[in-house]
Amino acid sequence: MANMYPPSPEFVKRARVQGMEGYLALYRKAAEQPEEFWGELAEKELEWFEKWSHVFEWNPPFAKWFAGGRLNASYNCVDRHLATHRKNKVAILWEGESGEQRQISYQELHRLVCRFANVLKGRGLKAGDRAIIYMGMVPELAVALLACARLGITHSVVFGGFSAEALRARIQDLEAQVVITADGAWRRGKEVRLKDAVDESLAGCPSVRDVIVYRRVGAGVPMQEGRDHWWHELDEGVSEVCPAEELDSEHPLFVLYTSGTTGKPKGIVHTTGGYLLHTHMTMQWVFDLRDEDTFWCTADIGWVTGHSYIVYGPLSAGATTMMYEGAPDFPQPDRFWRLIEKYWVNIFYTSPTAIRAFIRQGDQWPNGHDMSSLRLLGSVGEPFNPAAWEWYYKMIGKERCPIVDTWWQTETGGIMIAPMPGAVPLKPGSGTLPIPGILADVVDLQGKPVEANKEGFLIVRRPWPGIARTLWKDSGRYRQAYWERIEGVYLAGGAARRDEDGYFWILGRVDDVMNVSGHRLSTMEIESALVKHPAVAEAAVVGKPHEITGQAVACFVTLKKGNWNHDELGEDLRKWVAHEIGSFAKPEQIRFTDSLPKTRSGKIMRRLLREIVTSNSVTGDVTTLEDLSVVTRLSAQQDED
Ligand code: PRX
Repeated sequence: MANMYPPSPEFVKRARVQGMEGYLALYRKAAEQPEEFWGELAEKELEWFEKWSHVFEWNPPFAKWFAGGRLNASYNCVDRHLATHRKNKVAILWEGESGEQRQISYQELHRLVCRFANVLKGRGLKAGDRAIIYMGMVPELAVALLACARLGITHSVVFGGFSAEALRARIQDLEAQVVITADGAWRRGKEVRLKDAVDESLAGCPSVRDVIVYRRVGAGVPMQEGRDHWWHELDEGVSEVCPAEELDSEHPLFVLYTSGTTGKPKGIVHTTGGYLLHTHMTMQWVFDLRDEDTFWCTADIGWVTGHSYIVYGPLSAGATTMMYEGAPDFPQPDRFWRLIEKYWVNIFYTSPTAIRAFIRQGDQWPNGHDMSSLRLLGSVGEPFNPAAWEWYYKMIGKERCPIVDTWWQTETGGIMIAPMPGAVPLKPGSGTLPIPGILADVVDLQGKPVEANKEGFLIVRRPWPGIARTLWKDSGRYRQAYWERIEGVYLAGGAARRDEDGYFWILGRVDDVMNVSGHRLSTMEIESALVKHPAVAEAAVVGKPHEITGQAVACFVTLKKGNWNHDELGEDLRKWVAHEIGSFAKPEQIRFTDSLPKTRSGKIMRRLLREIVTSNSVTGDVTTLEDLSVVTRLSAQQDED
């Protein structure tokens, strides 16, 4: 039996949701009267220009929340705080990799957002247009998101680690009118040449009229006359007044591309009112946010975690949200602990991969830092192995801080399964119970709940406010990817089990999606990148258990006729994938083989390859072999069905 950690009486006393009774009362109300529940919260927690006509409309599989209601996400994240004691509160607390600091108050943030919104307006951009944002972690990245939201320009942030090729595919799919970027970004003391990648990507993107470049590193970059503009030049003399557009609750706030089971990334579409309410409420329920907290989510805004828990959730809730530009181990492996100590961080939210890397670097790095300001820790992105959980709990939280292990996805918009820290006793490795309004379950392929402690498919029975509304320009794929396999429910693509207390244990993906350092990668996407290489005939890619990153990319490759030097070609192919997708997708292993195992119909049997890379590997304490075999079995069931 797993160890249980109930919340301490001191934590419960000050918590927003107190004890299991508190949690169950909310959960029951949300399950029994969802429209009243969410309607009341939307009214109380967000500011609307106009009230909605219906809380919820459900035309399966397409949901609408608060349709007809009018609001603005940027207004809710910034303007509404100006009339309160938060006017001069720090909204964004930022530290650059080289140690520069910026503290941007809500009032200052309002000025920056209005100015940049006017810059965008000045380029003729308006509600319904699309912006691609490709920047490093500087405050202007958050400003760019909020300025787009202010005008109703749908933004799509592309993580700065993606290559020019990957960027181009996203610009083209979105048919963006503008690209917002920077001359570069700092990472481990080196410049990441963002503008160069943008220039390379723009060949074949006729929709892009303007490129706006924020000067971050001072690098010399070519500027194309008429198309490229410096942010600071457009900003000169611009007005600080820019009223927020009154947008429909279902207006698309952003599109975020994520990997699916085919080679083509999916453009996950999130809209305004429901998404904002979901992220706003989870700040309170799961992070138990208090006005005096400094909240630090270490993700990059290029991923959904950064959208929801660096920008929209914390700012809507009026928090001080911290943003750090650089690498966790720069200049030394104690950078995170230094930052916690320096800024008195109260709530710290990171990934199991980061924790495992810290464990490997040794206890001398956190030791000696005063982290007594911490009161709550969080985790996201991948299964948290109990040994790493215990280290986090003891070394970082000093056995005082609950850990909220939060399960969710790009598609879900916000946290779905996670403990309310003043209510739900913790079990290391489990996300515990769903938040109110989330009817999660573990079922078989017929949709029947499986018995306690049996593995099955993780599903959610009813749409919640933050759910993705569709896939950009592909509602058919939306239906087919999430709603068709098991009738009438949202299929999350993961394997899970529930224990005798109803707690959820997430076991991994059952589809062709890998999870490397908490980043989602599609096996097919890497395979298509590999077969573009002139030497490669066929490729099959699988996730291989990895002690630090959870999974690593392993590739099986057959070659075209020729005289190849395997060592050189292996290295060349690794670089090739980094060039086609991004360096975070670089394979750990390339294995050359004469043929690939296939079914009679010619489908590559990835699950066999998964077994090969699994049983060959040195097992750490990360992914137990047992869990992986479950995933393999369940994916086989899906394949054979
Ligand atoms: O497999 C699950 C894993 O990450 C996937 C979602 O990835 P993405 O859309 O990139 O969003 C990541 C951040 C929300 C899920 O399908 N995952 C996420 N959180 C957890 C997790 N697996 C286990 N435990 C978690 N807490």
